[in-house]
Amino acid sequence: MQVSKPAGGLSFDPIQRVVWRDGIRIPLTPKAAAILSYLMERPGRVVPNAQLLKAIWPDAFIQPEGIKVYIFELRRALGDNAKQPIHIQSISRRGYRLVGPLAHLDARKSPTEVIENVDLPGRKNELQVLNACLDEARNGVMQIVFLDGEFGVGKTALVETFADGAPPDVHVLTGRCYLTEGGRKPYYSVLEALGSCRVPNFQRFLARHSPTWALQMPARFSPEELTVLRSQTLNMTPAAMLRELCELIEAISQTNVLLFILEDVHWADSATLDFVNTIARRRHAEKLFLICTSLPAGSLPTGHSHGIIDRELFVKSLCRRIELTPLIPAPRLTGGTPA
Ligand SMILES: Nc1ncnc2c1ncn2[C@@H]1O[C@H](COP(=O)(O)OP(=O)(O)OP(=O)(O)O)[C@@H](O)[C@H]1O
Ligand SMILES: [Mg+2]
Repeated sequence: MQVSKPAGGLSFDPIQRVVWRDGIRIPLTPKAAAILSYLMERPGRVVPNAQLLKAIWPDAFIQPEGIKVYIFELRRALGDNAKQPIHIQSISRRGYRLVGPLAHLDARKSPTEVIENVDLPGRKNELQVLNACLDEARNGVMQIVFLDGEFGVGKTALVETFADGAPPDVHVLTGRCYLTEGGRKPYYSVLEALGSCRVPNFQRFLARHSPTWALQMPARFSPEELTVLRSQTLNMTPAAMLRELCELIEAISQTNVLLFILEDVHWADSATLDFVNTIARRRHAEKLFLICTSLPAGSLPTGHSHGIIDRELFVKSLCRRIELTPLIPAPRLTGGTPA
């Protein structure tokens, strides 16, 4: 196998036992390369020390401390940090877990190809944070991230790049909130997202968990099925719609990660905001990764108020915020001497 030298990013060539980082070739010792290969075959999973020892030193008796020296070598090669790891996490007294971009390399593709697919100039750190969140969601810890930034700072470019680079097993839904009257209709952006849903058996999920929502997408059902659904939805109250939506999202994010992107939630209708506040508190959608892009509070044009996302969600760490700063700092205004 021949792996070409990448222009940037990070890749690992297990045959040559070499890490490429930002164009620099970093050779690994055979044991360090074997550990990295072994972790990469088990992305996002905690690999216990005993398992690692048995796999890498099948014929020798080595203390778990013996692994540390190679983890140190790998961290140095990957540019990782033990205190705030973005690639190799130490799980206290248990073992190690590979997270971040290297955990998403598809074995069928060259590592370089995958890493470069999720590149966006100036947004490497943000993409790494999003990748770490994706890992957490994959491990069953729901993630809700608010991506805040001024008009035109690059919110859409970042979420689109991230979604385009998501591994094939991740289901992606995207909806956008609009300032227009129509865009403020209840759940407009959620309906837009669900309308393009390609999750296998989505109709079955809809009919089973959310008949009121199924009726919002009549084209997906036959006239006979619609008649049955209507008979089940005599009580189409806002509370029932909210509960059914949460149950639907929880059902479709049970086996695979659901990357749900809601764009421009500063324009969101109150039903959509209720949904975000509610799903965050229920904590049942374990593999949900919800990203909401938003203008920072206080940046809306005069006369518009920001929708309410419960501050408690941030205080209790049920949601997190990533603030996008401009790539090129705006020039300082140097005022002349007042006349
Ligand atoms: N990292 C980047 N490098 C180069 N160009 C970028 C980058 N991010 C965004 N852009 C460009 O900047 C412009 C604005 O980006 P984008 O639409 O993503 O911003 P936004 O924050 O979503 O804007 P809005 O507030 O209007 O929704 C686009 O032309 C986009 O291609
Ligand atoms: Mg945008």
